[in-house]
Amino acid sequence: PTLHVITPTYSRPVQKAELTRLTNTLLHVPKLHWLVVEDAAQRTAMVSRLLENTGMNYTHLNVETPPNLKVLKKPRNARIPRGTMQRNLALRWLRENINSRSGHKGVVYFADDDNTYSLELFEEMRWTLKASVWPVAFVGGLRYESPKINSQGKVFGWRTVFDPHRPFAIDMAGFAVNLQLILSKPQAYFKLKGVKGGYQESSLLQDLVTLSDLEPKASNCTKVLVWHTRTERPLLVNEGKKGFTNASVEV
Ligand code: UGA
Ligand code: MN
Repeated sequence: PTLHVITPTYSRPVQKAELTRLTNTLLHVPKLHWLVVEDAAQRTAMVSRLLENTGMNYTHLNVETPPNLKVLKKPRNARIPRGTMQRNLALRWLRENINSRSGHKGVVYFADDDNTYSLELFEEMRWTLKASVWPVAFVGGLRYESPKINSQGKVFGWRTVFDPHRPFAIDMAGFAVNLQLILSKPQAYFKLKGVKGGYQESSLLQDLVTLSDLEPKASNCTKVLVWHTRTERPLLVNEGKKGFTNASVEV
């Protein structure tokens, strides 16, 4: 099966560094199709060049999150999902460009540009029948969150402190879905409106699977193979001072 890895990304000082690091991971993964979706009105030259130079099998898309949904414009605690429209565009691309009768075997994974992924993770998810799940480190105020697995090897709940009664109390980095399932449920998307914090993942998975469908990976969810790392925002307070700026150098 081909892994279709969907990555939303947006312009900021560390964007090229994040994408470089992710590229260096994904270049080690066989049979991979990378769908990179810029949160921008246009595809940028920086991302275009970076992707071209990798020699990878990729699809470069863009859709700008409208200003009324942007994180900045909203009151502090109104939770705005990040990367949602971008992931939905990639889902639509898969549905429009891969024929469900073509016999194409694939798995879809949502890989944010700032997380840390082990290579083992990609081989675990490659054999997903419907949806597979595994632990994710550094989310929900814990060293790791995880699905809870019973003695029959089935998911029966969630090892989380934050709202364990969510239908799928799992971070975006903690699951993958079979491509045929995505194609067979063309109405399944991440919901944009009325989604409480932590419910974004559930808003898609609810349309695709039930708890009993989930396939635990990473040795029955006992291993951490992905880390929800977040990159510190660099301090650029001296930019522009005493002539210290050079916009012609790409960073
Ligand atoms: C957590 C989850 O791990 C994300 O999967 C989820 O989308 C997010 O919360 C959420 O609140 O919706 P977090 O580290 O807070 O992640 O989010 P970011 O890493 O800042 O953003 C997630 C992805 O969306 C990244 O790939 C980022 O590049 C992209 N993004 C972020 C955009 O495309 N546009 C934005 O305005 C912000
Ligand atoms: Mn992140």
